[in-house]
Amino acid sequence: MLFLLILFCWGPAILTFGQVWPLYGTPRKTVTLSSYGGHVFQEEGVWNYSTMLLREDMGVLILGARGTIFALDLNKIIHKKAMVKWEVIPSTQENCLMRGKNLETECQNYIRILHKMPDGRMYVCGTNAFNPTCDYMSYTDGNLSLENNQHEGRGKCPFDPFQGYASELVDGKLYSATYINFLGSESAVMRSLNGNIRTDDISSWLRDPSFVGMKHVAEGEENPEGDDDKIYIFFNEAAMEYDPYNKLDVSRVARVCKGDLGGLLALARKWTTFLKARLDCPVPQTRLPFLIQDVFLFCPGNWNTCVFYGVFTPQMSMLQYSAVCTYKIQDIREVFSKGKFKTVVNVDSFTKWVKSEEDIPDPRPGACINNDARQKEFLTSLNLPVKTLQFVRDRPLMDQAVEPSSQQPLLVKKGAAFTSIVVASTTALDGSIHQVMFIGTASGSVLKAVNYNGETVIIEEVQLFAHSEPVKILRLSTTVGQLYAGSEVAAVQMPLSACGHYTSCMDCVLARDPYCGWDLISNSCVAINSLHPNTHSQVIQSLRDGNPSRCPAVESPKTIKFFYPGNVVSLLCEPGSNLAQVQWHVNGHPVEQNNVYEIQHNRLLLLNATESNAGHYICTSVETSKGEDYIIQTATYELKLQDLVEDSLGQPLVQEQQKIFIALIVIVILLTLVLLALVVWTLYKGYCAIPSCSNSIEERPQCSNMMQKWGSIERVQQMN
Ligand SMILES: *[C@@H]1O[C@H](CO)[C@@H](O)[C@H](O)[C@H]1NC(C)=O
Ligand SMILES: *[C@@H]1O[C@H](CO)[C@@H](O)[C@H](O)[C@H]1NC(C)=O
Repeated sequence: MLFLLILFCWGPAILTFGQVWPLYGTPRKTVTLSSYGGHVFQEEGVWNYSTMLLREDMGVLILGARGTIFALDLNKIIHKKAMVKWEVIPSTQENCLMRGKNLETECQNYIRILHKMPDGRMYVCGTNAFNPTCDYMSYTDGNLSLENNQHEGRGKCPFDPFQGYASELVDGKLYSATYINFLGSESAVMRSLNGNIRTDDISSWLRDPSFVGMKHVAEGEENPEGDDDKIYIFFNEAAMEYDPYNKLDVSRVARVCKGDLGGLLALARKWTTFLKARLDCPVPQTRLPFLIQDVFLFCPGNWNTCVFYGVFTPQMSMLQYSAVCTYKIQDIREVFSKGKFKTVVNVDSFTKWVKSEEDIPDPRPGACINNDARQKEFLTSLNLPVKTLQFVRDRPLMDQAVEPSSQQPLLVKKGAAFTSIVVASTTALDGSIHQVMFIGTASGSVLKAVNYNGETVIIEEVQLFAHSEPVKILRLSTTVGQLYAGSEVAAVQMPLSACGHYTSCMDCVLARDPYCGWDLISNSCVAINSLHPNTHSQVIQSLRDGNPSRCPAVESPKTIKFFYPGNVVSLLCEPGSNLAQVQWHVNGHPVEQNNVYEIQHNRLLLLNATESNAGHYICTSVETSKGEDYIIQTATYELKLQDLVEDSLGQPLVQEQQKIFIALIVIVILLTLVLLALVVWTLYKGYCAIPSCSNSIEERPQCSNMMQKWGSIERVQQMN
């Protein structure tokens, strides 16, 4: 624990002087988890905290790790309320080992599926040493217990703990996307618990997929056309639409309808509504498609306001860019319900997928059963005509790709790869509503970013884990207002904002954090009460403009510093933020880096101070916001040459003299001690040489009496 905390305590990223301005995708602040008010949960001997289920109804976070499931207090995850072990039994483990898998990493039970059932119980599955197994679990009276009703988890949960997977539990049925065999060669998207429906195993449906996420959109509740709920599946797979000589991966969004019961003949017990489209996230100046790593469904209102937020990384790892793209549900829907299909043609000896110009049968292939279909007496997918079924079975891929909102990424950042994302919504001081992205990275941090009218600002980066521990999972509780993150080594909790760490008005306002504003009365950066934003009459917030001009002027402390010729003098000046640039002036002239002055990111060094360097030094931290420069912090120094004759203040000289004086005293004492020791030693030698010494017999009884007395006192003390 302490070790982790120490790891978290790292300074802000070092900015070298003269960097290109403004910095692209730099978080304005770099913060530690502890200064953000976060908590770390870790159980001795337990690893891989990578599955989470929020049970806001029970006030607990269900956390799945290797061989263990925890119920943690949602408000403070360090309070472990219950836990249950689910480890692999020896015979299963032996079998796994015999089949060539690694005992420590692979032949373990990694909890992968955790869902709430309609009756309040939970459905849980684990890899169980390459033998996926599921069970029911309940949390009652503070007890977390598995029902020991273990059953086959094949198709629901991966065999291989290192393989991607996705799942959702809707109306008591489990939708899952995973590899379904030991070898990890066969994949499927399926629905189970009460009758199975799955993808066909022809390669045009899924081609070496790696599953990323699955989301349910309850469209059926309010669709005017009587359309059905959809389950959206996000994954990457080998492209089929490009030149077959280049093995290229692409991101996909696929969807199935909740009411799909499968079709007839070749599509018996297979989806009749499985359609997929390419999901583009075009990052400028890159050629190969970026690949999706995680997805978050954000719905501010009913289903047609929903937006998917995806994080993307390049397929060639040399490029260190990550991106966030957003997709409107309406845009995705449009592609599936109105778009053209791709069809396969044979060109020479290979096949090619091209836009299909064939007539599209009616009912439309892949469409859910809606009012229109019902009117035509197609009441379930089992009634669909073979023509429709055959068409969709052979053409699961849409011709058109799904493009991100505004045709471009919301955020592109160089640095550690993005791994995960959640999005919260908050109301600012002026009543405007903002979506705040929390993005997990491969270097164990979370970025907090907001888009204001097309401009995305990264407010801060909070370091949650050691730099070598990627964020594996992120969950957001809007009711508790907390973020939960898991890595292989620990789980953490952090609040969505920590306004208190902004110490000045400039800092607080320039942060452009919709959760925070500067209170002129209390002189502090306070949390905006998003339920009653207008209760803050004296609070400054400037989110879109980043304009702190209403802030009171900053006062700068002045320090007097003395030096001797030839000294190295260090004048401190923290930049105040990662975006601020420090400027030094001496007697009104800018200080330039040369053989006298060394400008470092948080200080100015005078390497060989001379009389001519005395003067008035001012350091200003300047941050540019919306094209305006703001001085967020200043430090003033009066540098004076130490006068050797008129030693008026002479603090350093006195100290120097004191040091010499103390050193002299120490030497004198040491010498005296040595002398004394010598005297005693000679005396002792001399004493023994005196013959009367061996004669003093009388003294011995006295001595032993004394010993006895001491002994008795000691015993009395012990008795007491
Ligand atoms: C589980 O955690 C350990 C320790 O960090 C790590 O070595 C291992 O790769 C993890 N296993 C999986 C399946 O991620
Ligand atoms: C919780 O579980 C423990 C151990 O299995 C058991 O002794 C205890 O009675 C249970 N408590 C309740 C309230 O069910």
